Amino acid sequence: MTHAWNQLLPRLQELADLNSTAALLYWDQAVLMPPKGAAGRARSTATLESIAHNRLTDPAIGELLNELAAEDSLEESQRATVRILKREYDRATKLPDKLVKELAQVTGVAYQAWTEAKPISDFAAFQPHLEKIVELKKEQADAIGFERERYDALLDMYEPGMTSTEVEAMFSQLTEGLAPVVDAVLGRAREDHEFLRGEYNDGAKEQLCRWLVEQLGFDTEGGRLDTSPHPFTSGIGLGDVRQTTRYANVGLMESLYAAIHETGHALYEQGLPAEWRDLPAGQVPSFGLHESQSRMWENQVGRNRCFTDWLLPHLKELFENELGTATPEEFHRAVNQPQRSLIRVEADELTYNLHIALRFELELALFRDELAVADLPDAWDEGMEKHLGVRPKSHAEGVLQDMHWSIGIQGYFPTYSLGTLYAAAFFAKAESELDGLTDDFRKGDTSRLLEWLRSNIHSKASLYEAKDLAEKVLGGPFSATPFVDYLKDKYRELYDLSI
Ligand code: CO
Repeated sequence: MTHAWNQLLPRLQELADLNSTAALLYWDQAVLMPPKGAAGRARSTATLESIAHNRLTDPAIGELLNELAAEDSLEESQRATVRILKREYDRATKLPDKLVKELAQVTGVAYQAWTEAKPISDFAAFQPHLEKIVELKKEQADAIGFERERYDALLDMYEPGMTSTEVEAMFSQLTEGLAPVVDAVLGRAREDHEFLRGEYNDGAKEQLCRWLVEQLGFDTEGGRLDTSPHPFTSGIGLGDVRQTTRYANVGLMESLYAAIHETGHALYEQGLPAEWRDLPAGQVPSFGLHESQSRMWENQVGRNRCFTDWLLPHLKELFENELGTATPEEFHRAVNQPQRSLIRVEADELTYNLHIALRFELELALFRDELAVADLPDAWDEGMEKHLGVRPKSHAEGVLQDMHWSIGIQGYFPTYSLGTLYAAAFFAKAESELDGLTDDFRKGDTSRLLEWLRSNIHSKASLYEAKDLAEKVLGGPFSATPFVDYLKDKYRELYDLSI
Protein backbone atom coordinates (compact mmCIF):
# COMPACT_ATOMS: atom_id res chain seq x y z
CA MET A 1 0.00 0.00 0.00
CA THR A 2 1.32 3.39 -0.90
CA HIS A 3 1.31 6.41 1.35
CA ALA A 4 -1.13 8.34 -0.85
CA TRP A 5 -3.50 5.37 -1.01
CA ASN A 6 -3.45 5.04 2.78
CA GLN A 7 -4.47 8.66 3.04
CA LEU A 8 -7.19 8.34 0.43
CA LEU A 9 -8.80 5.20 1.84
CA PRO A 10 -10.33 6.69 5.03
CA ARG A 11 -11.78 9.49 2.88
CA LEU A 12 -13.36 6.90 0.58
CA GLN A 13 -14.78 5.05 3.57
CA GLU A 14 -16.31 8.25 4.87
CA LEU A 15 -17.82 9.05 1.46
CA ALA A 16 -19.21 5.51 1.24
CA ASP A 17 -20.85 5.93 4.66
CA LEU A 18 -22.37 9.27 3.69
CA ASN A 19 -23.73 7.82 0.44
CA SER A 20 -25.06 4.79 2.27
CA THR A 21 -26.87 6.99 4.79
CA ALA A 22 -28.37 9.09 1.97
CA ALA A 23 -29.54 5.91 0.23
CA LEU A 24 -31.24 4.76 3.41
CA LEU A 25 -33.02 8.10 3.75
CA TYR A 26 -34.29 7.83 0.14
CA TRP A 27 -35.42 4.26 0.70
CA ASP A 28 -37.26 5.28 3.85
CA GLN A 29 -38.89 8.19 2.02
CA ALA A 30 -40.15 5.90 -0.76
CA VAL A 31 -41.27 3.02 1.47
CA LEU A 32 -42.10 4.13 5.02
CA MET A 33 -42.11 7.88 5.56
CA PRO A 34 -45.48 9.51 6.31
CA PRO A 35 -46.43 12.26 3.80
CA LYS A 36 -45.99 15.07 6.31
CA GLY A 37 -42.33 14.17 6.69
CA ALA A 38 -41.48 15.37 3.16
CA ALA A 39 -40.25 18.89 3.94
CA GLY A 40 -38.07 17.82 6.85
CA ARG A 41 -36.66 14.95 4.86
CA ALA A 42 -35.81 17.19 1.90
CA ARG A 43 -33.65 19.28 4.23
CA SER A 44 -31.94 16.28 5.81
CA THR A 45 -30.99 14.79 2.45
CA ALA A 46 -29.84 18.17 1.11
CA THR A 47 -27.61 18.57 4.20
CA LEU A 48 -26.12 15.11 3.78
CA GLU A 49 -25.51 15.66 0.09
CA SER A 50 -23.81 18.95 0.67
CA ILE A 51 -21.49 17.36 3.25
CA ALA A 52 -20.66 14.58 0.79
CA HIS A 53 -20.09 17.14 -1.98
CA ASN A 54 -17.69 19.13 0.24
CA ARG A 55 -15.78 15.99 1.16
CA LEU A 56 -15.51 14.96 -2.50
CA THR A 57 -14.32 18.36 -3.70
CA ASP A 58 -11.73 18.81 -0.93
CA PRO A 59 -8.54 19.94 -2.76
CA ALA A 60 -6.63 17.30 -0.75
CA ILE A 61 -8.47 14.64 -2.79
CA GLY A 62 -7.26 16.29 -6.01
CA GLU A 63 -3.67 16.22 -4.74
CA LEU A 64 -3.88 12.58 -3.67
CA LEU A 65 -5.35 11.65 -7.06
CA ASN A 66 -2.45 13.39 -8.82
CA GLU A 67 0.05 11.51 -6.69
CA LEU A 68 -1.71 8.21 -7.30
CA ALA A 69 -1.92 8.79 -11.05
CA ALA A 70 1.87 8.74 -11.11
CA GLU A 71 2.16 5.48 -9.11
CA ASP A 72 2.85 2.30 -11.01
CA SER A 73 2.47 -0.21 -8.16
CA LEU A 74 -1.30 0.06 -7.75
CA GLU A 75 -3.58 -2.95 -7.83
CA GLU A 76 -6.29 -3.19 -10.48
CA SER A 77 -9.07 -2.10 -8.10
CA GLN A 78 -6.98 0.86 -6.93
CA ARG A 79 -6.23 1.98 -10.47
CA ALA A 80 -9.92 1.77 -11.37
CA THR A 81 -10.79 3.73 -8.24
CA VAL A 82 -8.36 6.51 -9.20
CA ARG A 83 -9.86 6.64 -12.71
CA ILE A 84 -13.47 6.85 -11.48
CA LEU A 85 -12.80 9.21 -8.58
CA LYS A 86 -10.87 11.56 -10.84
CA ARG A 87 -13.83 11.76 -13.18
CA GLU A 88 -16.18 12.50 -10.26
CA TYR A 89 -13.77 14.97 -8.69
CA ASP A 90 -13.19 16.86 -11.95
CA ARG A 91 -16.88 17.07 -12.67
CA ALA A 92 -17.79 18.21 -9.17
CA THR A 93 -15.05 20.84 -9.02
CA LYS A 94 -15.83 22.21 -12.49
CA LEU A 95 -19.42 23.05 -11.60
CA PRO A 96 -19.91 26.48 -10.03
CA ASP A 97 -21.74 26.34 -6.68
CA LYS A 98 -24.28 28.81 -7.96
CA LEU A 99 -25.24 26.52 -10.84
CA VAL A 100 -25.54 23.45 -8.59
CA LYS A 101 -27.84 25.29 -6.19
CA GLU A 102 -29.89 26.84 -8.99
CA LEU A 103 -30.41 23.46 -10.67
CA ALA A 104 -31.53 21.89 -7.39
CA GLN A 105 -33.95 24.72 -6.75
CA VAL A 106 -35.33 24.95 -10.32
CA THR A 107 -35.86 21.19 -10.64
CA GLY A 108 -37.60 21.06 -7.26
CA VAL A 109 -40.15 23.63 -8.44
CA ALA A 110 -40.37 22.12 -11.95
CA TYR A 111 -41.15 18.66 -10.62
CA GLN A 112 -44.02 20.11 -8.62
CA ALA A 113 -45.24 22.01 -11.72
CA TRP A 114 -45.05 18.81 -13.77
CA THR A 115 -47.15 16.85 -11.25
CA GLU A 116 -49.82 19.55 -11.59
CA ALA A 117 -49.55 20.03 -15.39
CA LYS A 118 -49.63 16.36 -16.38
CA PRO A 119 -53.13 15.39 -15.17
CA ILE A 120 -54.67 18.39 -16.98
CA SER A 121 -52.45 18.03 -20.08
CA ASP A 122 -51.25 21.62 -19.72
CA PHE A 123 -47.87 21.78 -21.46
CA ALA A 124 -47.93 25.60 -21.46
CA ALA A 125 -47.86 25.60 -17.65
CA PHE A 126 -44.80 23.36 -17.60
CA GLN A 127 -42.99 24.97 -20.55
CA PRO A 128 -41.25 27.87 -18.73
CA HIS A 129 -39.90 25.44 -16.12
CA LEU A 130 -38.54 23.11 -18.75
CA GLU A 131 -37.02 26.02 -20.68
CA LYS A 132 -35.14 27.05 -17.54
CA ILE A 133 -33.96 23.50 -16.91
CA VAL A 134 -32.71 23.04 -20.48
CA GLU A 135 -30.85 26.34 -20.24
CA LEU A 136 -29.19 25.29 -16.96
CA LYS A 137 -28.37 21.82 -18.29
CA LYS A 138 -26.63 23.44 -21.27
CA GLU A 139 -24.60 25.53 -18.80
CA GLN A 140 -23.84 22.38 -16.83
CA ALA A 141 -22.70 20.49 -19.94
CA ASP A 142 -20.54 23.42 -21.05
CA ALA A 143 -18.94 23.68 -17.59
CA ILE A 144 -18.16 19.95 -17.51
CA GLY A 145 -16.84 20.05 -21.07
CA PHE A 146 -17.09 17.65 -24.00
CA GLU A 147 -15.22 16.76 -27.15
CA ARG A 148 -17.73 16.83 -29.98
CA GLU A 149 -21.25 17.00 -28.71
CA ARG A 150 -22.72 18.89 -25.78
CA TYR A 151 -25.12 16.04 -25.06
CA ASP A 152 -22.15 13.74 -24.38
CA ALA A 153 -21.39 15.60 -21.16
CA LEU A 154 -24.89 14.72 -19.90
CA LEU A 155 -24.92 11.13 -21.16
CA ASP A 156 -21.55 10.58 -19.51
CA MET A 157 -23.05 11.10 -16.04
CA TYR A 158 -25.13 7.93 -16.43
CA GLU A 159 -23.17 5.92 -18.99
CA PRO A 160 -19.51 6.85 -18.51
CA GLY A 161 -17.49 6.72 -21.70
CA MET A 162 -20.49 6.39 -24.03
CA THR A 163 -20.97 9.04 -26.74
CA SER A 164 -24.07 10.21 -28.56
CA THR A 165 -22.50 9.09 -31.85
CA GLU A 166 -22.41 5.52 -30.52
CA VAL A 167 -25.94 5.78 -29.19
CA GLU A 168 -27.18 7.21 -32.51
CA ALA A 169 -25.59 4.33 -34.40
CA MET A 170 -27.16 1.86 -31.98
CA PHE A 171 -30.63 3.33 -32.40
CA SER A 172 -30.46 3.44 -36.17
CA GLN A 173 -29.34 -0.19 -36.26
CA LEU A 174 -32.12 -1.00 -33.85
CA THR A 175 -34.98 0.87 -35.51
CA GLU A 176 -34.03 -0.43 -38.97
CA GLY A 177 -33.68 -4.00 -37.72
CA LEU A 178 -36.92 -3.84 -35.76
CA ALA A 179 -39.18 -2.10 -38.29
CA PRO A 180 -40.17 -5.22 -40.28
CA VAL A 181 -40.55 -7.26 -37.08
CA VAL A 182 -42.73 -4.65 -35.39
CA ASP A 183 -45.01 -4.34 -38.42
CA ALA A 184 -45.37 -8.08 -38.86
CA VAL A 185 -45.95 -8.81 -35.17
CA LEU A 186 -48.31 -5.96 -34.44
CA GLY A 187 -50.31 -6.83 -37.55
CA ARG A 188 -50.88 -10.29 -36.08
CA ALA A 189 -51.10 -9.90 -32.31
CA ARG A 190 -54.65 -9.07 -31.29
CA GLU A 191 -55.36 -11.51 -28.53
CA ASP A 192 -57.17 -10.74 -25.37
CA HIS A 193 -56.27 -12.76 -22.32
CA GLU A 194 -58.98 -12.40 -19.75
CA PHE A 195 -56.82 -13.66 -16.90
CA LEU A 196 -54.54 -10.64 -17.34
CA ARG A 197 -57.35 -8.42 -16.13
CA GLY A 198 -58.49 -10.63 -13.25
CA GLU A 199 -58.66 -9.48 -9.64
CA TYR A 200 -55.84 -11.10 -7.74
CA ASN A 201 -55.64 -11.07 -3.98
CA ASP A 202 -52.84 -8.73 -2.83
CA GLY A 203 -51.76 -11.00 0.04
CA ALA A 204 -51.42 -13.99 -2.29
CA LYS A 205 -49.47 -11.86 -4.80
CA GLU A 206 -47.07 -10.92 -2.03
CA GLN A 207 -46.65 -14.53 -0.96
CA LEU A 208 -45.88 -15.43 -4.56
CA CYS A 209 -43.32 -12.65 -5.07
CA ARG A 210 -41.54 -13.43 -1.80
CA TRP A 211 -41.21 -17.06 -2.82
CA LEU A 212 -40.13 -16.26 -6.38
CA VAL A 213 -37.37 -13.75 -5.59
CA GLU A 214 -35.76 -16.35 -3.31
CA GLN A 215 -36.09 -19.01 -5.99
CA LEU A 216 -34.11 -16.71 -8.31
CA GLY A 217 -31.31 -16.41 -5.76
CA PHE A 218 -32.11 -13.22 -3.84
CA ASP A 219 -30.50 -13.52 -0.40
CA THR A 220 -33.05 -12.38 2.16
CA GLU A 221 -30.46 -12.44 4.94
CA GLY A 222 -28.67 -9.73 2.97
CA GLY A 223 -31.68 -7.89 1.64
CA ARG A 224 -35.36 -7.04 1.90
CA LEU A 225 -38.40 -7.01 -0.35
CA ASP A 226 -40.88 -4.24 0.44
CA THR A 227 -43.59 -2.33 -1.38
CA SER A 228 -43.57 1.14 -2.96
CA PRO A 229 -45.70 2.84 -5.64
CA HIS A 230 -42.73 2.82 -8.06
CA PRO A 231 -40.66 -0.36 -7.74
CA PHE A 232 -36.93 0.23 -7.27
CA THR A 233 -33.78 -1.36 -5.85
CA SER A 234 -31.18 0.25 -3.66
CA GLY A 235 -27.86 -1.14 -2.51
CA ILE A 236 -27.77 0.50 0.90
CA GLY A 237 -24.48 -1.02 1.98
CA LEU A 238 -22.69 -4.29 2.57
CA GLY A 239 -25.21 -7.03 3.31
CA ASP A 240 -28.17 -4.71 2.82
CA VAL A 241 -29.77 -4.66 -0.63
CA ARG A 242 -33.38 -3.55 -0.74
CA GLN A 243 -35.87 -4.05 -3.53
CA THR A 244 -39.54 -3.19 -3.82
CA THR A 245 -42.50 -4.22 -5.91
CA ARG A 246 -46.18 -3.28 -5.70
CA TYR A 247 -49.38 -5.24 -5.20
CA ALA A 248 -52.19 -2.70 -4.73
CA ASN A 249 -54.16 -1.57 -7.80
CA VAL A 250 -52.07 -3.49 -10.31
CA GLY A 251 -52.52 -6.86 -11.97
CA LEU A 252 -50.71 -10.06 -11.06
CA MET A 253 -48.27 -9.71 -13.97
CA GLU A 254 -47.26 -6.17 -12.99
CA SER A 255 -46.41 -7.30 -9.43
CA LEU A 256 -44.67 -10.40 -10.63
CA TYR A 257 -42.56 -8.95 -13.44
CA ALA A 258 -41.63 -5.89 -11.38
CA ALA A 259 -40.35 -8.27 -8.70
CA ILE A 260 -38.36 -10.29 -11.26
CA HIS A 261 -36.95 -7.07 -12.79
CA GLU A 262 -35.90 -5.67 -9.42
CA THR A 263 -34.44 -9.02 -8.42
CA GLY A 264 -32.11 -8.67 -11.42
CA HIS A 265 -30.90 -5.34 -10.02
CA ALA A 266 -30.68 -6.78 -6.51
CA LEU A 267 -28.68 -9.87 -7.54
CA TYR A 268 -26.16 -7.55 -9.21
CA GLU A 269 -25.80 -5.50 -6.01
CA GLN A 270 -25.51 -8.66 -3.90
CA GLY A 271 -22.82 -9.99 -6.24
CA LEU A 272 -20.48 -7.01 -5.98
CA PRO A 273 -17.19 -7.88 -4.25
CA ALA A 274 -17.45 -7.23 -0.50
CA GLU A 275 -13.76 -6.34 -0.22
CA TRP A 276 -14.26 -3.32 -2.51
CA ARG A 277 -17.40 -2.06 -0.79
CA ASP A 278 -15.92 1.38 -0.02
CA LEU A 279 -14.21 1.88 -3.39
CA PRO A 280 -15.76 3.55 -6.43
CA ALA A 281 -14.29 0.55 -8.28
CA GLY A 282 -16.59 -1.71 -6.26
CA GLN A 283 -19.82 -0.24 -7.65
CA VAL A 284 -21.85 -0.99 -10.78
CA PRO A 285 -20.13 0.78 -13.71
CA SER A 286 -23.17 2.35 -15.40
CA PHE A 287 -26.94 2.64 -15.37
CA GLY A 288 -27.12 0.72 -18.65
CA LEU A 289 -25.18 -2.19 -17.15
CA HIS A 290 -27.40 -2.18 -14.08
CA GLU A 291 -30.46 -2.26 -16.29
CA SER A 292 -28.97 -5.12 -18.33
CA GLN A 293 -29.30 -7.38 -15.31
CA SER A 294 -32.89 -6.44 -14.48
CA ARG A 295 -33.98 -6.76 -18.12
CA MET A 296 -32.28 -10.11 -18.54
CA TRP A 297 -34.06 -11.65 -15.56
CA GLU A 298 -37.35 -10.04 -16.52
CA ASN A 299 -37.27 -10.86 -20.23
CA GLN A 300 -34.71 -13.45 -21.28
CA VAL A 301 -35.52 -15.52 -18.17
CA GLY A 302 -38.99 -14.45 -16.99
CA ARG A 303 -40.66 -14.41 -20.43
CA ASN A 304 -38.89 -17.51 -21.72
CA ARG A 305 -41.23 -20.39 -22.55
CA CYS A 306 -39.26 -22.85 -20.38
CA PHE A 307 -39.57 -20.52 -17.42
CA THR A 308 -43.26 -19.70 -17.87
CA ASP A 309 -44.01 -23.43 -18.23
CA TRP A 310 -42.38 -24.00 -14.84
CA LEU A 311 -44.02 -20.94 -13.26
CA LEU A 312 -47.63 -21.47 -14.33
CA PRO A 313 -48.41 -24.53 -12.14
CA HIS A 314 -47.02 -22.64 -9.13
CA LEU A 315 -49.28 -19.69 -9.93
CA LYS A 316 -52.24 -22.01 -10.24
CA GLU A 317 -51.63 -23.32 -6.72
CA LEU A 318 -52.36 -19.83 -5.43
CA PHE A 319 -54.79 -18.61 -8.08
CA GLU A 320 -56.80 -21.68 -9.00
CA ASN A 321 -59.96 -19.71 -9.87
CA GLU A 322 -58.28 -17.00 -11.91
CA LEU A 323 -55.76 -19.11 -13.82
CA GLY A 324 -57.24 -22.60 -13.69
CA THR A 325 -57.99 -22.82 -17.40
CA ALA A 326 -54.93 -21.00 -18.80
CA THR A 327 -52.76 -23.32 -20.90
CA PRO A 328 -48.95 -23.02 -20.89
CA GLU A 329 -49.12 -21.68 -24.42
CA GLU A 330 -51.74 -19.04 -23.59
CA PHE A 331 -49.81 -17.94 -20.54
CA HIS A 332 -46.58 -17.59 -22.50
CA ARG A 333 -48.32 -15.56 -25.21
CA ALA A 334 -49.99 -13.37 -22.60
CA VAL A 335 -46.72 -12.33 -20.95
CA ASN A 336 -45.30 -11.59 -24.40
CA GLN A 337 -48.25 -9.64 -25.75
CA PRO A 338 -47.05 -6.72 -27.92
CA GLN A 339 -49.09 -3.60 -28.66
CA ARG A 340 -48.77 -0.07 -29.99
CA SER A 341 -48.85 1.78 -26.71
CA LEU A 342 -48.60 5.52 -26.21
CA ILE A 343 -47.04 5.12 -22.78
CA ARG A 344 -43.41 4.10 -22.34
CA VAL A 345 -43.78 2.35 -18.99
CA GLU A 346 -46.58 0.19 -20.38
CA ALA A 347 -44.66 -0.74 -23.52
CA ASP A 348 -43.63 -4.32 -24.23
CA GLU A 349 -40.22 -5.69 -25.14
CA LEU A 350 -40.79 -5.27 -28.86
CA THR A 351 -41.77 -1.60 -28.92
CA TYR A 352 -40.11 -0.28 -25.75
CA ASN A 353 -36.92 0.91 -27.41
CA LEU A 354 -38.85 2.90 -30.01
CA HIS A 355 -40.16 5.05 -27.15
CA ILE A 356 -36.59 5.61 -26.04
CA ALA A 357 -35.36 6.35 -29.58
CA LEU A 358 -37.89 9.18 -29.76
CA ARG A 359 -36.80 10.68 -26.43
CA PHE A 360 -33.14 10.46 -27.42
CA GLU A 361 -33.78 12.23 -30.75
CA LEU A 362 -35.66 15.03 -29.02
CA GLU A 363 -33.04 15.48 -26.30
CA LEU A 364 -30.27 15.56 -28.85
CA ALA A 365 -32.11 18.20 -30.91
CA LEU A 366 -32.72 20.32 -27.80
CA PHE A 367 -29.05 20.32 -26.84
CA ARG A 368 -27.93 20.95 -30.41
CA ASP A 369 -30.18 24.04 -30.40
CA GLU A 370 -32.13 22.55 -33.28
CA LEU A 371 -35.38 22.34 -31.35
CA ALA A 372 -37.02 24.81 -28.96
CA VAL A 373 -38.85 23.62 -25.86
CA ALA A 374 -41.99 25.35 -27.19
CA ASP A 375 -41.93 23.04 -30.23
CA LEU A 376 -41.49 19.82 -28.20
CA PRO A 377 -45.18 18.78 -28.13
CA ASP A 378 -45.49 18.80 -31.93
CA ALA A 379 -42.12 17.12 -32.38
CA TRP A 380 -43.23 14.48 -29.87
CA ASP A 381 -46.47 13.70 -31.66
CA GLU A 382 -44.76 13.50 -35.04
CA GLY A 383 -42.07 11.24 -33.59
CA MET A 384 -44.68 8.88 -32.12
CA GLU A 385 -46.34 8.66 -35.51
CA LYS A 386 -43.00 7.92 -37.16
CA HIS A 387 -41.73 5.34 -34.67
CA LEU A 388 -44.91 3.69 -33.43
CA GLY A 389 -47.65 4.68 -35.83
CA VAL A 390 -49.82 6.17 -33.10
CA ARG A 391 -50.57 9.76 -32.14
CA PRO A 392 -51.29 10.93 -28.59
CA LYS A 393 -54.64 12.64 -28.05
CA SER A 394 -53.33 14.66 -25.14
CA HIS A 395 -50.03 15.90 -23.74
CA ALA A 396 -50.63 13.77 -20.64
CA GLU A 397 -50.18 10.65 -22.76
CA GLY A 398 -47.60 12.43 -24.92
CA VAL A 399 -44.82 14.83 -24.07
CA LEU A 400 -45.78 15.17 -20.39
CA GLN A 401 -45.85 11.45 -19.54
CA ASP A 402 -42.36 11.03 -18.00
CA MET A 403 -41.01 12.81 -14.96
CA HIS A 404 -37.35 12.64 -16.08
CA TRP A 405 -37.12 16.04 -17.77
CA SER A 406 -38.76 17.78 -14.81
CA ILE A 407 -36.05 16.57 -12.43
CA GLY A 408 -33.20 17.50 -14.75
CA ILE A 409 -31.89 14.08 -15.74
CA GLN A 410 -31.60 14.78 -19.47
CA GLY A 411 -29.27 12.19 -21.00
CA TYR A 412 -30.62 9.33 -18.90
CA PHE A 413 -33.14 7.71 -21.27
CA PRO A 414 -30.59 5.95 -23.53
CA THR A 415 -29.45 3.83 -20.56
CA TYR A 416 -32.80 1.98 -20.65
CA SER A 417 -32.19 0.87 -24.24
CA LEU A 418 -28.55 0.10 -23.62
CA GLY A 419 -29.78 -2.13 -20.80
CA THR A 420 -32.07 -4.15 -23.07
CA LEU A 421 -29.37 -4.50 -25.72
CA TYR A 422 -26.68 -5.52 -23.26
CA ALA A 423 -29.12 -8.01 -21.72
CA ALA A 424 -29.77 -9.78 -25.03
CA ALA A 425 -26.08 -9.81 -25.96
CA PHE A 426 -24.99 -11.19 -22.56
CA PHE A 427 -27.70 -13.80 -22.53
CA ALA A 428 -26.79 -15.02 -26.02
CA LYS A 429 -23.20 -15.32 -24.84
CA ALA A 430 -24.23 -17.20 -21.69
CA GLU A 431 -26.33 -19.59 -23.79
CA SER A 432 -23.40 -20.25 -26.09
CA GLU A 433 -21.20 -21.12 -23.12
CA LEU A 434 -23.71 -23.04 -21.01
CA ASP A 435 -25.18 -26.05 -22.76
CA GLY A 436 -28.94 -26.42 -22.41
CA LEU A 437 -29.24 -23.31 -20.26
CA THR A 438 -32.94 -22.67 -20.87
CA ASP A 439 -33.74 -26.33 -20.14
CA ASP A 440 -32.66 -25.59 -16.56
CA PHE A 441 -35.51 -23.07 -16.41
CA ARG A 442 -38.05 -25.89 -16.86
CA LYS A 443 -37.12 -26.93 -13.32
CA GLY A 444 -37.06 -23.35 -12.06
CA ASP A 445 -33.30 -23.64 -11.86
CA THR A 446 -31.48 -20.41 -12.75
CA SER A 447 -28.35 -21.12 -10.73
CA ARG A 448 -26.00 -21.74 -13.66
CA LEU A 449 -26.99 -18.41 -15.20
CA LEU A 450 -26.48 -16.59 -11.90
CA GLU A 451 -23.07 -18.19 -11.45
CA TRP A 452 -22.09 -17.09 -14.97
CA LEU A 453 -23.22 -13.52 -14.27
CA ARG A 454 -21.41 -13.53 -10.94
CA SER A 455 -18.10 -14.55 -12.45
CA ASN A 456 -18.29 -12.56 -15.71
CA ILE A 457 -20.04 -9.36 -14.65
CA HIS A 458 -20.94 -8.93 -10.96
CA SER A 459 -17.51 -9.76 -9.54
CA LYS A 460 -15.83 -7.31 -11.95
CA ALA A 461 -17.79 -4.34 -10.54
CA SER A 462 -16.20 -1.18 -12.04
CA LEU A 463 -12.75 -2.52 -12.88
CA TYR A 464 -13.58 -1.48 -16.45
CA GLU A 465 -15.92 1.05 -18.03
CA ALA A 466 -19.27 -0.48 -18.96
CA LYS A 467 -18.65 -0.82 -22.68
CA ASP A 468 -15.15 -2.23 -22.10
CA LEU A 469 -16.55 -4.77 -19.66
CA ALA A 470 -19.23 -5.66 -22.23
CA GLU A 471 -16.57 -6.19 -24.89
CA LYS A 472 -14.58 -8.43 -22.57
CA VAL A 473 -17.64 -10.50 -21.72
CA LEU A 474 -18.78 -10.74 -25.34
CA GLY A 475 -15.33 -11.27 -26.77
CA GLY A 476 -15.95 -8.54 -29.35
CA PRO A 477 -17.75 -5.26 -29.94
CA PHE A 478 -21.25 -4.80 -28.63
CA SER A 479 -24.12 -4.29 -31.10
CA ALA A 480 -27.90 -4.35 -31.40
CA THR A 481 -27.84 -7.55 -33.48
CA PRO A 482 -28.31 -10.11 -30.65
CA PHE A 483 -31.33 -8.16 -29.42
CA VAL A 484 -32.96 -7.96 -32.86
CA ASP A 485 -32.25 -11.67 -33.45
CA TYR A 486 -33.70 -12.56 -30.06
CA LEU A 487 -36.94 -10.73 -30.82
CA LYS A 488 -37.18 -12.23 -34.30
CA ASP A 489 -36.76 -15.74 -32.90
CA LYS A 490 -39.29 -15.15 -30.18
CA TYR A 491 -42.04 -13.66 -32.32
CA ARG A 492 -41.42 -15.94 -35.28
CA GLU A 493 -42.28 -18.81 -32.99
CA LEU A 494 -45.11 -17.08 -31.15
CA TYR A 495 -47.00 -15.94 -34.22
CA ASP A 496 -45.74 -18.31 -36.84
CA LEU A 497 -44.24 -15.46 -38.87
CA SER A 498 -41.63 -15.50 -41.57
CA ILE A 499 -39.39 -12.69 -40.33
CO1 CO B 1 -34.63 -1.12 -13.75
